[in-house]
Amino acid sequence: MKTTIEIPDIITFTICTDHNYVIFSITSQNPGFIEWINDTPYVDYAIGELASPNTSHGKVLYEGTCTACHGSDGRQILFDGTLGVGGIARDEPTVEILHKIRSGQPGTSMPSAIVNGWSIQDSVDVLGYIKTLPD
Ligand code: HEC
Repeated sequence: MKTTIEIPDIITFTICTDHNYVIFSITSQNPGFIEWINDTPYVDYAIGELASPNTSHGKVLYEGTCTACHGSDGRQILFDGTLGVGGIARDEPTVEILHKIRSGQPGTSMPSAIVNGWSIQDSVDVLGYIKTLPD
């Protein structure tokens, strides 16, 4: 169920209990938005890693949506001239990368999993898969 609470001209909260997230839009900064997800079921905080990614499902999603830009080995776009998307996914905090996959990369044409209607588990699966790609 999705509930929207609007404080006119200031802020709008959208609470989605099906997919476990809250989006708030600050009207004055529209279309900017910040999204929080409750990542508790998806992340093992003790080790800072995904709890249970389905990497074979993640591979299917990656090949359908991400290879066009990142390449099948994740090294078509290099970050700081060295690391591919696999290296970045291992180096940076899991929750941060999960958030980027869900929200998109600011200032780029990278698609957002939320806009594409993916579940949180879909993004978890893709992230689990990209962590298996070479540096
Ligand atoms: C239309 C091209 C495009 C597609 C499709 C795309 N990306 Fe990206 N992605 C980018 C660009 C551009 C960047 C930013 C590169 C930079 O910062 O130099 C980026 C950055 C990233 C980052 C790094 C974030 C960081 O911390 O800097 C990750 C992780 C990532 N993409 C994962 C994915 C995944 C997973 C998919 C598929 C669901 C995907 N991308 C699809 C273009 C794309």
